[in-house]
Amino acid sequence: MDPAALSWSLLCLLPGIILGDTNGGVRVVVKEDSDAILPCSPRTKENLSGALFDWRTNNLHTDVFMYQAGSVTIKAEEFKGRVSHFPHEVKNGNASIIIRNTKIEDGGIYTCDLPHLEPPQRFYIQLVVGASPKPNIVIVNVTEDRVQLKCEVQGASPKPEVEIQDSSGNVLPAEKSEVFERRRYTVILVTTVTKTGCFRCVAKQEEIHHETSAETYVPVYEDTCSKVDVTGWLSGYFLGVFSVVLPLLVAAKCIRIRNGGGDVTHQLQ
Ligand SMILES: *[C@@H]1O[C@H](CO)[C@@H](O)[C@H](O)[C@H]1NC(C)=O
Ligand SMILES: *[C@@H]1O[C@H](CO)[C@@H](O)[C@H](O)[C@H]1NC(C)=O
Ligand SMILES: *[C@@H]1O[C@H](CO)[C@@H](O)[C@H](O)[C@H]1NC(C)=O
Repeated sequence: MDPAALSWSLLCLLPGIILGDTNGGVRVVVKEDSDAILPCSPRTKENLSGALFDWRTNNLHTDVFMYQAGSVTIKAEEFKGRVSHFPHEVKNGNASIIIRNTKIEDGGIYTCDLPHLEPPQRFYIQLVVGASPKPNIVIVNVTEDRVQLKCEVQGASPKPEVEIQDSSGNVLPAEKSEVFERRRYTVILVTTVTKTGCFRCVAKQEEIHHETSAETYVPVYEDTCSKVDVTGWLSGYFLGVFSVVLPLLVAAKCIRIRNGGGDVTHQLQ
C-alpha cells in the first residue's frame, strides 16, 4: 500500500482525528449553510500564479477544484457555483478555497496538492459541517402517578449524545431510538418520571464542542376534581357529606395535572 492510500484509509477510520503528515492537519468546523475557508499555503509563500493546485475530497470521485496557471476547473457538480479561490492571494502563495453555503454532505477530508513545488506538497484539511438543532422535550402521556417525557433531536450532525436530566443534573434512564439518514441523526428518548419539577434534555456534539438543551416543567399533581367539585358541594351540604364524598373521588382516581392554569392535556402530542 502506498503511503498516500494508507493515510487516506487511516483518516477514514478515524473521523475527527487528523493524522499529522509533514504539513500537519487542519480542522475546519462550520455550521451548515455558512461559508468555509479551507486553508492551503506552502510555508515558503511563493508565487503560485503560474503553478498548479488541486483540491480533492475523500467523499467524491472527482476533483473539487483545480487551478492551473490562472484557469480554474470545477468538475464536481456538487460544488459548481459554490467554490472559488482567492485570485489576488495566489501570488502570495495562498491556494486556499472557500466553499459557500456548506451542506452536511460537504464534510470530509480534503487534500490540497501542490505537485509542482520542490518537493511536492500535500495538505490535509478536515471539514466538519455541523447541524445542531435544539432538542424538543414534551410531555406525551400522563397517568395518575407518572408522566412520560419525550425528547427529540431531529437531523443533527455529527451524531449527538442526548440525555434527559432532572433538575439536579442526574441522567434519567430512557428508551432511545435513533435514525441515521443522509448523514443526519434523529434521536428520540422517552422516559417516565414520577416527580414534578424541571427536566432538561441535553444534546451534546463533542466532536464540534457543541451543546444545546431544552427544558420542560412537570407540574404538581393535584386533586383538581375533588377540589373543584367539593367546594361547590360544600356550599350546600354539611361537612359530614364532604367526608364521605372526598374519599370516593380519590378512590375513583379523578386526578388531573394543572399547568399554570391551563390543563396539561393541551400539551399532549
Ligand atoms: C488566503 O486568503 C484568504 C482571503 O484573503 C484569507 O482569508 C486566508 O486566511 C488566506 N489563507 C492563508 C493560508 O494565507
Ligand atoms: C507571479 O508569477 C506570475 C506568473 O508566473 C508573474 O506573471 C507575476 O509577475 C508574479 N507575481 C509576483 C508578485 O511575483
Ligand atoms: C399512556 O400510558 C398508559 C399506561 O402506561 C397506557 O395505557 C396508554 O396507552 C398511554 N397513552 C398514550 C397516548 O400513549
